[in-house]
Amino acid sequence: MQIFLDTANIDEIREAAQLGIISGVTTNPSLLSKEATSDYETVTKKICSIVSGPVSVEVLSEDADSMIEEARAKASWAPNVNIKIPITADGLRATSALSKENIKVNMTLCFSENQALLGALAGATYVSIFVGRLDDAGHDGMQVVQDTVAILDNYPELDAQVIAASIRHTIHCTQAAMIGVDIATVPYKVLMQMIQHPMTDIGIKRFLADWESVANK
Ligand code: G3P
Repeated sequence: MQIFLDTANIDEIREAAQLGIISGVTTNPSLLSKEATSDYETVTKKICSIVSGPVSVEVLSEDADSMIEEARAKASWAPNVNIKIPITADGLRATSALSKENIKVNMTLCFSENQALLGALAGATYVSIFVGRLDDAGHDGMQVVQDTVAILDNYPELDAQVIAASIRHTIHCTQAAMIGVDIATVPYKVLMQMIQHPMTDIGIKRFLADWESVANK
């Protein structure tokens, strides 16, 4: 499973990139708004200069023609920009057109297996299932991920990769990896939590203490 970082925060991206464990970044307008800037272009270009993998940038337009125009403009910001398009009828139309132009689309806001399947059929490179938001609504978000992975495995001609998005905690990451999902896009806080284990901290302290006790003999 690849890990993308789900943030528009430059410091977080820089730090995570140095760990050598992230393969891409996903942003959205809400994440960008947390950075107190509406300058999507500058932030995206900065992110793309730090990360060589795919960087998802969302369109704000709602009709297909405007989505296509906006996607073309945003895709020109850097070679690794992917365009996040919500799963709507217009979104599918835009995805179909953009995929023919080799602009990679991350079909976002998928909450069902069928939405993800349609995204894949339209030519999306990625389909993002919002696990945490499904859980919030009383559904089993990870089950939708598992079903979607199984469905797309049935049809090898559909080469969309499944992204487990809206990840809220480390157990989501473990479950996503157990399912065999292609990618989990993970907030920085959860990525840091994945690294940590109290037994590791205790183990380091004990090794150092034992070493010091020998050194002082
Ligand atoms: O990248 C979009 C998605 O991960 C959003 O997550 O936490 O706002 O539901 P969240």
